[in-house]
Amino acid sequence: MSTTRTQVAIVGAGPAGLLLSHLLDRAGIDSVLLENRSPDYVLGRIRAGVLESSSVDLLSEVGLGERIAREGDEHRGIYLQWTAEGQGERHHLDFVDHVGRSVWVYGQTEVTKDLMAARERAGQQSHYEVRDVELHDVAGDRPAVTFTDRDGTHQRLEADAVAGCDGFHGPSRAGIPADVRRTWERVYPYAWLGVLAEVAPSTDELIYAWHPDGFALHSMRSRTVSRLYLQVPPDEDVAQWPDDRVWEALATRLGHGQDGWTLQDGPIVEKSVLPMRSFVSTPMRHGRLFLAGDAAHIVPPTGAKGLNLAIADVTLLARALTAWLVEGSSTLVDSYSEDALRRVWRCTHFSWWMTSMLHTLPPGQGDAFDQQLQLSQLRWVTSSQAGAAGLAENYAGLPIGF
Ligand code: FAD
Ligand code: DHB
Repeated sequence: MSTTRTQVAIVGAGPAGLLLSHLLDRAGIDSVLLENRSPDYVLGRIRAGVLESSSVDLLSEVGLGERIAREGDEHRGIYLQWTAEGQGERHHLDFVDHVGRSVWVYGQTEVTKDLMAARERAGQQSHYEVRDVELHDVAGDRPAVTFTDRDGTHQRLEADAVAGCDGFHGPSRAGIPADVRRTWERVYPYAWLGVLAEVAPSTDELIYAWHPDGFALHSMRSRTVSRLYLQVPPDEDVAQWPDDRVWEALATRLGHGQDGWTLQDGPIVEKSVLPMRSFVSTPMRHGRLFLAGDAAHIVPPTGAKGLNLAIADVTLLARALTAWLVEGSSTLVDSYSEDALRRVWRCTHFSWWMTSMLHTLPPGQGDAFDQQLQLSQLRWVTSSQAGAAGLAENYAGLPIGF
């Protein structure tokens, strides 16, 4: 087994791990990234599409804003709509008017591409397609990660700190002993069917639609690519949804019967079912192990928060590790878990709230009373300054240090 040393061993090269390595590099801290997939696989995953303003500010401050400004699309707000008694209503909610902040449509794939390029420029070491990743002695002074590299060589990586950025299914979370760890979870009784389509978006900004048949969302990736979602039963088989059925359901749920609006269809190039859950695992630090992003928490996608939370976590973590490893102050590493969790719980609540407001409950779990409450909530956030400002403040994103 060959042994190497770095300051921070980072497990997982999703947005959390890649951005952490970039922030540490800027602070003069050496890191090694370990990822079990190939770069192409990581880049091929279609995931988040919306960056909140604090994420864009942060990425711009650290030299990663140029392509967002050039190729991203700034949105002032979203549309919220509902159809009740056969009548549709669509309302625009302007975040800039309410809280002075916007959001940007810029795919996670593009963020990942920018971060991979930055890491390559910085000459920091990455190992892709590793196997058998195991964490050791994270509670002690000499933590290490062992793994088998792509060529089959067993390696031991020793570090001052280990960052667990390996997503919901990665091994890092289990590095926190079961008697220390506490988890909270909510599994929702529905899922999303997501499609990527080669067709110009039929809207200038995202449409979140409540419909008696179930929720629908019209998002986008560019002027020529649309991203659309439909509420479906949990564990729905994609085979139940041939393209014609997808477009028909989207047209019904997104149509609102006014202004002659119609949904343009086109070739569907990706289709998958996403389960929906809220999950928080605490603490986010144990000894020299620090968790960030989906490794510590999952939100349902309705509030577009998962990627933004990962960005916020690693921003706090990079500041804390820099103060510790460069300046010798442990104050921020000691408060990292508490600081990060404040925002995690805010986003957990917001994502749960948006999800609960917009999805119809399956028979037996909800009734006409629940629907009236949802409609009342939607009318309130689209007609009251205070209601709209609350949604806008959370969606456009609170400051990273919140
Ligand atoms: P991940 O992106 O999951 O990265 C973790 C990395 O660790 C992966 O590359 C994984 O391969 C690697 N890994 C796992 N196990 C190991 C191991 N044993 N060894 C080494 N590496 C390992 N969020 C939003 O904000 N807005 C959205 O619109 C949105 N839409 C989404 C749509 C989909 C389909 C999905 C799945 C998620 C969506 N999310 C969205 C959530 C968002 O994508 C995640 O919150 C975000 O990817 C979290 O980043 P991360 O780096 O923490 O985790
Ligand atoms: C997208 C996904 C979301 O969950 C959301 O709330 C907004 C946009 C998207 O993939 O574009």
